[in-house]
Amino acid sequence: MSRSVILASSFSTKATENHRVPPNVRFEVDDVEADWTYHRKFDYIHCRFMGTAIHDWPRLIRQCFEHTEPGGWVECIDLDLEWNSPDGSLTPSHASKFFNTAFLKAARKGGMEPCPGPLLERWLHDAGFNNVTAERHVWSVGPWPANKHLKEVGAWNYLQITEGLEAFTYALFTRILGYSRQEVDVVCAKIRKEMKNPKMHAFFYLHVAYGQKPEGK
Ligand SMILES: C[S@@+](CC[C@H](N)C(=O)[O-])C[C@H]1O[C@@H](n2cnc3c(N)ncnc32)[C@H](O)[C@@H]1O
Repeated sequence: MSRSVILASSFSTKATENHRVPPNVRFEVDDVEADWTYHRKFDYIHCRFMGTAIHDWPRLIRQCFEHTEPGGWVECIDLDLEWNSPDGSLTPSHASKFFNTAFLKAARKGGMEPCPGPLLERWLHDAGFNNVTAERHVWSVGPWPANKHLKEVGAWNYLQITEGLEAFTYALFTRILGYSRQEVDVVCAKIRKEMKNPKMHAFFYLHVAYGQKPEGK
């Protein structure tokens, strides 16, 4: 693997500014939803956290299939962003639940699936992959679980949600749902407060799905 050449594609040039990028990684700014123009095929394609960004997932996964070497693998990791709780402690009266429902609605209204995770397995099958395998993992929202592993997952998830809340929210809520920026700020402040409450046991799921391109295709 150390002699592999890794091509990373994104809309953003941010990662290229990181001086710790290994020498065998090359970055390209490109639109993964446009027709792929690569002249060679890849041994492995990894697609992670593209929910609420992609308009046509089956087409994206078909392009992955076309550009994978026979016998090569495609792996997708993505979320099911619907927040739930195992004990009913997340209720419609929570700003977090209200926000989550509105977020999912706005993303779908904008034509981008916010919960691609549970659909990845089917899309890989439909594109023609063999040996399709899918896993589902709990991502707790905050360190509320007693289980040590889930507590740590929840702490990291808390960090990434609180750091990114406005960035996840402004465009969908102001452009699609017609909120003002100040209204979004109020909702975000309420969510931050609720997420610190150890009695709210929210979680959502992370899905991992991978498949192998048949030999001879
Ligand atoms: C949530 S980040 C995930 C980044 C990375 N895949 C990871 O897992 O750390 C989503 C990334 O997708 C990029 N993006 C969104 N739509 C895209 C598109 N159509 N083509 C290429 N990149 C896109 C954004 O610029 C952003 O960097």
